[in-house]
Amino acid sequence: MGIHILDAMAREGFEEVIALHDRDSGLRGFLGIHDSSQGPAFGGIRRWSYLTEDQALRDCLRLARAMTYKCAIAGLEAGGAKLVVLDRPGLDVEAVYRAIGASIERLGGRYQAGPDVGTQDSELEWVAATTRHVTDPGPGGPGMLAEATAEGVFAGIGASLRFLDGEEDWPRRRIVIQGLGEVGRGLARRLLERGARVGAAEIDPDRVAAVRVESDVEILDPATELDARCDVFAPCALGGILHDLSITRLRCRIVAGGANNVLARAVHGERLHQLGILYAPDFAINAGALVRGTIHHLEGRRESIERIGARIGATLADLLAQARAAEVSPARYAVDLAEDRIAQWRARAPSQDAPLGPTVR
Ligand code: NAI
Repeated sequence: MGIHILDAMAREGFEEVIALHDRDSGLRGFLGIHDSSQGPAFGGIRRWSYLTEDQALRDCLRLARAMTYKCAIAGLEAGGAKLVVLDRPGLDVEAVYRAIGASIERLGGRYQAGPDVGTQDSELEWVAATTRHVTDPGPGGPGMLAEATAEGVFAGIGASLRFLDGEEDWPRRRIVIQGLGEVGRGLARRLLERGARVGAAEIDPDRVAAVRVESDVEILDPATELDARCDVFAPCALGGILHDLSITRLRCRIVAGGANNVLARAVHGERLHQLGILYAPDFAINAGALVRGTIHHLEGRRESIERIGARIGATLADLLAQARAAEVSPARYAVDLAEDRIAQWRARAPSQDAPLGPTVR
């Protein structure tokens, strides 16, 4: 069934959703601004071959809202947004990104764009040709963002292991990663350096070949990773992978990875909890890039990767302990905490409906 956009916006507390269309470049996409009551709304640009407009819009809304939750849990004075682009063969990608930049510029800084699946350094440079409000991938920018995410995920896995067993004990651990992209590879490298055993599934044969040459990652057939017996299953590909069917296949003690929106629905966080699998909430563990990008934007400095890892590890350890004390699942606890904080921001911020002043009509 098609999405009722205004109902969805009201239900999820959205400020604005913009449909993007550019006659010259063929750009088709959506920008969802979930919250800018604290500060600019941050969110990457995802370019993906969505099957339908509806699918793209749903993805946009889910991802934008998750960005606000990330800000709330990480204690950042910023909000969440997401821009999704409907990719298709023959699209003039450079022209599309330039058109996106022009749209972002018109918002005057309320939305700050960054990388996501399908948008890396070269695409960001095209966006930067037409707007100032985008992450600079060069020396003037915040530094490597996916590395910050990988470090945060690594620290979050460490915190999860300590929560269950009192220690990391890396050489005794087996971690299975889904997706050997920017985040998955960075995570694998860190785990191997500590002596852990790492298995991984990846659907892109070129990426598999590159990883085989450069590391000791055990390559698994795609789609078998869910059944693999391991300490930690680390989803680092796309979202929505844990649902009624897939959850029953898991043979891990912990789910902790970089992917956004790992749970198909909130109820799947409860299922994991009932099965005795510790779930590190995605929007708490994968906030490394957001922390780095936001600090650079708001404070004009580069936060070190090590400090970002320590910050995310501490946040996760605290969240897991609080959830246990409250006798609720970590997924439930994290959502409630984020929503409480967002409600507090909104109570402090001037209402969107308030008059803007005598000169504005
Ligand atoms: P990426 O595009 O570099 O890597 C994703 C990898 O997953 C690709 O190599 C792709 O071929 C693979 N993949 C897709 N479906 C798969 C499947 N079913 N089985 C196995 N492999 C599969 O993306 P990146 O930057 O590594 O991000 C990974 C995830 O982490 C995404 O969900 C992203 O939204 C999320 N994330 C990334 C951040 C970053 O800093 N890059 C920040 C926060 C979240």
